[in-house]
Amino acid sequence: MADKRTIVVVTRNRGKVREFKRIFSEYVPEVQWRFLSAIDLELPEIEETGSTFAENARVKALEGAKYLAGTEYSGYICLGEDSGLEVDKLDGGPGVNSHRFSQSGTDEDNNKLLLELLDGVPWDERTCRYKCAIALADSSGVIAESTGSVEGIVHTELRGTNGFGYDPLFYAVELGKTFGEASDSEKDAISHRRRAIQRLIPAIRCVLL
Ligand code: IMP
Repeated sequence: MADKRTIVVVTRNRGKVREFKRIFSEYVPEVQWRFLSAIDLELPEIEETGSTFAENARVKALEGAKYLAGTEYSGYICLGEDSGLEVDKLDGGPGVNSHRFSQSGTDEDNNKLLLELLDGVPWDERTCRYKCAIALADSSGVIAESTGSVEGIVHTELRGTNGFGYDPLFYAVELGKTFGEASDSEKDAISHRRRAIQRLIPAIRCVLL
């Protein structure tokens, strides 16, 4: 029988899995959550074909659940997440293309390209936001969905080494520092991922507990 305290996070991004672990444990501390990633379960790469974060989150959750149907993890809850950075000056880009923004797609090159494209743009025109969409699914289909966002400014230089991805450039207005400079708990308190999970908690309590 599927263990409802084990959630399969359909992502290869270890930074995201770490954040899910921290935030779930904070909201539902009575449960010893176990998170398995797409890497742990050797799930095949799932193509992000959607034009929105929500569509991609749904596809990841559904495809993950479909794949698990033929394995010992059949029936386990799959969590699909898609997130990224929307920069107003770039007409909402990189958006759903956030992880493959530069040619190499490494965090370093993505940040470098972002700085280049915004070179000379004044602080008040560097507005941006992180967005996150989450979908939970099992073999019967989508169980619950939610979204969250956090406002920021693209900094003019890399600041701090915490977090991952665009965090050293994401100056969180609510914190007065970049996510790269913020501690885990400071980022978790206001992040797009936290806000999306927060909205899912009633469904999680209903379905998983
Ligand atoms: P995907 O959701 O795996 O397609 O990748 C989303 C990309 O958006 C990541 O590779 C990061 O570049 C960026 N991103 C999403 N959330 C965060 C975050 O919390 N911090 C930093 N970068 C993020």
